[in-house]
Amino acid sequence: IQLNDGSNLSGLQVIADEKLENYEEISKLSTGAALEVWGTLVESQGRGQDFEVQSEQVLIRGTAPGEEYPLQKKGHTLEFLRDIAHLRPRTNTLGAVFRIRNTLSQAIHRFFQDRGFLYVHTPIITANDAEGAGEMFHVTSLDLEQLPKTKAGKVDYDQDFFGTDVSLTVSGQLGAEGFALAFTNVYTFGPTFRAENSNTARHLAEFWMIEPEMAFMDLQGMLVLTEEFLRELLKECLDRHEEDLAFLQKMYDQELISGLKHICDTPFETLTYTEAVKILENSGKSFEFPVEWGCDLQSEHERYLSEVHVGGPLNLIDYPKDIKAFYMRLNDDEKTVAAMDVLVPGVGEIIGGSQREERLDVLDERMDAHLKEELWWYRDLRRYGTVPHAGFGLGFERLVLYLTGMENIRDAIPFPRVPNNAAF
Ligand code: 4AD
Ligand code: MG
Repeated sequence: IQLNDGSNLSGLQVIADEKLENYEEISKLSTGAALEVWGTLVESQGRGQDFEVQSEQVLIRGTAPGEEYPLQKKGHTLEFLRDIAHLRPRTNTLGAVFRIRNTLSQAIHRFFQDRGFLYVHTPIITANDAEGAGEMFHVTSLDLEQLPKTKAGKVDYDQDFFGTDVSLTVSGQLGAEGFALAFTNVYTFGPTFRAENSNTARHLAEFWMIEPEMAFMDLQGMLVLTEEFLRELLKECLDRHEEDLAFLQKMYDQELISGLKHICDTPFETLTYTEAVKILENSGKSFEFPVEWGCDLQSEHERYLSEVHVGGPLNLIDYPKDIKAFYMRLNDDEKTVAAMDVLVPGVGEIIGGSQREERLDVLDERMDAHLKEELWWYRDLRRYGTVPHAGFGLGFERLVLYLTGMENIRDAIPFPRVPNNAAF
C-alpha cells in the first residue's frame, strides 16, 4: 500500500500480507481510501524506498469508490484539477506546491523577524484606495435590493454600517507607513483584493502580499534588501524541497533547479525605466503593444527584459511619475519617481515598491482635493516627524509560481478567486 499523509512527495510503503485479519477487505481498496496503520518501521527489502512499514493492523477509516473517484493514478491536467480544487491537494503536483508555499511563508516571517521587523496586521476593510486605481470590492451591510438614496439620488452611505463607503483593501502600505514611523522597520503579510477584471495567468482577485516598510531607507538601500530577501527564500526552498523540486522539474520545467541555483549566485541587474525603453526600442522585436517613453510596460516587455535581455532577475527603477502611484518620491529630474519593480523570468513583475514622498509640499502636488481629504491622516505622517522611508510589496502567489515552475497563478493558491469563480 502506498500511504501518504502529505508530509512528503513519495509517502510511505506499507506491507500488508495475508496474516492481517481484514486482508480480504484491504485487497479490495482503491486509490483515495483513508487508513490507519499500526506496525513496525523497517529497512526496505525492495528498491525504490529506504524504509517501509510492516503492518500488524490496518484499520480502514474511509473507502473511496474505485473508478468513480475523480483522482485516478493516471496524470490529470492542471485545468481539470482546478475544477476539483477540494481534492487536488492530494495530488503530487499540488502537494509539492503547497509544501513549498508553507516553507516560503515561514521563511518570510523568519527573514524579517531575524532583522527586528515588527509584524503589523493592517485592516482588510478600508475607506482608502491605496493604489488609487479604483479596482476595489465594495463592502456593505445595506440591503442591495432596497438601497437607501440621498436626495441627489446617490446611495446613502451614511446609513451603511461604517457610515461611509468602504471596500476590501488593495494594499496594507499606507497603514504600514504609519507603523514604520513608530517601529522603524515593519512588515505586513496578509490578503489583498483587486477587482481588476484581468483574466490572466498572473492575476488573482484575492492574493496575499508581503509589504515591508522601512524608515530611514532609500531606494538604493531597498534594492540591496530585496535581493538578499529573495535569495534567502530561494535557498530555503532548495535546502528543504529537493524531492518536490525534482518532481516539479521533471513534470513542468526542465531548468527549474538550475535556474534557481543560478540566481543564488548572480547579482541582480538594475536598469532605469529610461534605459529599458531604449533597449526595447532597439530590440528589433515587434511587440503587440508599442513602446515609447511614458508608456506603462506590458508583460511582453517585462518578459523580454528579464528573459532575453538579462536572463535573470532585474530591478527596474525610476519610472515616469504619471504612470505610478501618488505616494512615490519625486526624483530631482521632476519627471520620474523613485519606484522599483523586480521582474523575473517566466513571471514578470513579482515586486513593486518605491521610496515614499516624505515632503508634504511635494506630496500635496500629487494628491487632488478629494484624496487630501480622504487621506488627511496620511498627510499628518508628513507633518509630524517625517523621515525618508521606503517599502515594497511582494505578490506571494507570484513568488510561489516562480519557485515552483508552475505557469498559472491559480495553481499557486489553495482556492483561487478569479472572475466568475469562487465556488470552493
Ligand atoms: O505593484 P503593486 O500594485 O504595489 C502595491 O500594492 C504597493 N502598495 C506595494 C508597496 O509598495 N507596499 O503590487 C505589489 C505586488 C506586485 O508586484 C505583484 O507581485 C502582486 O503584488 N500583485 C498581484 N498578484 C496577484 N494578483 C494580482 N491581481 C496582483 N496585483 C499585484
Ligand atoms: Mg506594480
